[in-house]
Amino acid sequence: MPYTITAEQEMVRLMARDFARRELEPLAARRDREELFPADVVKKMGQLGLLGMMVPAQYGGAGAGAVSYCLALQEIAYSCASTAVTMSVANLSTEPLLKFGDEQQKTRYLFRLAAGDLLGCFALTEPGAGSDPGSLQIRAQDKGDHYLINGTKVFITHGAYADVVNLIARTGPEKGNKGLSAFIIEKGTPGFSVGSREDKMGLRASNTVELIFEDCRVAKDNLIGRPGLGFKIAMSALDSGRIGIASQAIGISRACLDEAVRYARERKQFGRSISSFQAIQWMIADMATSIEAAHLLSLSAALKKDQGVPFTKEASMAKLFSSEAANRTAYLALQIHGGYGYVKDFKVERLYRDARATTIYEGTSEIQRLVIAREILRD
Ligand code: CAA
Repeated sequence: MPYTITAEQEMVRLMARDFARRELEPLAARRDREELFPADVVKKMGQLGLLGMMVPAQYGGAGAGAVSYCLALQEIAYSCASTAVTMSVANLSTEPLLKFGDEQQKTRYLFRLAAGDLLGCFALTEPGAGSDPGSLQIRAQDKGDHYLINGTKVFITHGAYADVVNLIARTGPEKGNKGLSAFIIEKGTPGFSVGSREDKMGLRASNTVELIFEDCRVAKDNLIGRPGLGFKIAMSALDSGRIGIASQAIGISRACLDEAVRYARERKQFGRSISSFQAIQWMIADMATSIEAAHLLSLSAALKKDQGVPFTKEASMAKLFSSEAANRTAYLALQIHGGYGYVKDFKVERLYRDARATTIYEGTSEIQRLVIAREILRD
């Protein structure tokens, strides 16, 4: 797939890069150390159009498309992977409304989500339903003129800071992935509260919490699409989300490579720079090659999305390859740093921890392989 980035896409990348280097990079280590969610910075990202990149101009978004999104997210992740997951989930949270919302819902929420006046999150996972969201338990009972929601969601990215939640809950008696529905629910709705916060290994400046629903009464207007569409809405949002996580992983990998090259040039052992050793050169070559491959895979998925053709398989391939590559790249970057890579003074220590989540959330590597194989074998 020979593909040339357009001048407009390059402009978006440079804008994100400039923003990330100025606003994220200087504070990223401190935010990680102190678990500071960058709420002020996220607001600015909204003003720059980075939170509603797929939202068309008619609903106040940047309408920039998935390729621009990939490029911008890589730049944000390069400087701060925690902020990148916030950007990824904020963009993901516009997808259910964009594809399945009615006109009133789109007008009510998309403008403000795209502008960063509202921050959206995505609540699918439960304590007993991770890779298998079809087994989720949270109930939304149809009470005639409203739904009554009871249950708990876990591992919700920036859940404590979100103004609206895309919630997937069980409305029907059907088992498994049938009988699920999607809702948009505003913070402050009685019966909806934020539970405990996860103390994570990495991505520590991104907030991860439980969301609790206790007799939470939600108007019928808050249903996205029709009852029973919840699983498909979630899966289709995750297709887009996986392009985001691939891009986050690539941004982390690029930062790992730059740190490794800089250190390898500076560090002297046996009387010469360690970059002159073939063992180090091969590591650098492997890192750079996997980054290029991951980048092309993610562009291929994004291009398909922009062209409006199915991209489920390509998104999973991009997510699988980029996240595994990020872990390998972080491992090699740390290895090149030797003992210094294992201490918190050096950036690779954070990158190594941040990379680890990418093969897990928005579908583990094992789930991506399952999706890819199903897409290939289904005909
Ligand atoms: N788009 C639209 N529809 C889809 C779809 C997609 N990508 N994938 C499946 N569907 C549809 C199917 O066509 C099928 O429809 P019919 O019933 O009409 O035939 C229906 O959904 C059920 O599909 P499956 O039988 O394939 O469903 P399954 O129960 O076997 O599950 C799975 C498939 C791929 C394993 C899926 O459950 C999955 O992706 N699991 C991983 C979940 C995940 O990624 N969780 C991440 C949590 S969110 C997160 O991490 C966010 C964050 O904050 C960072």
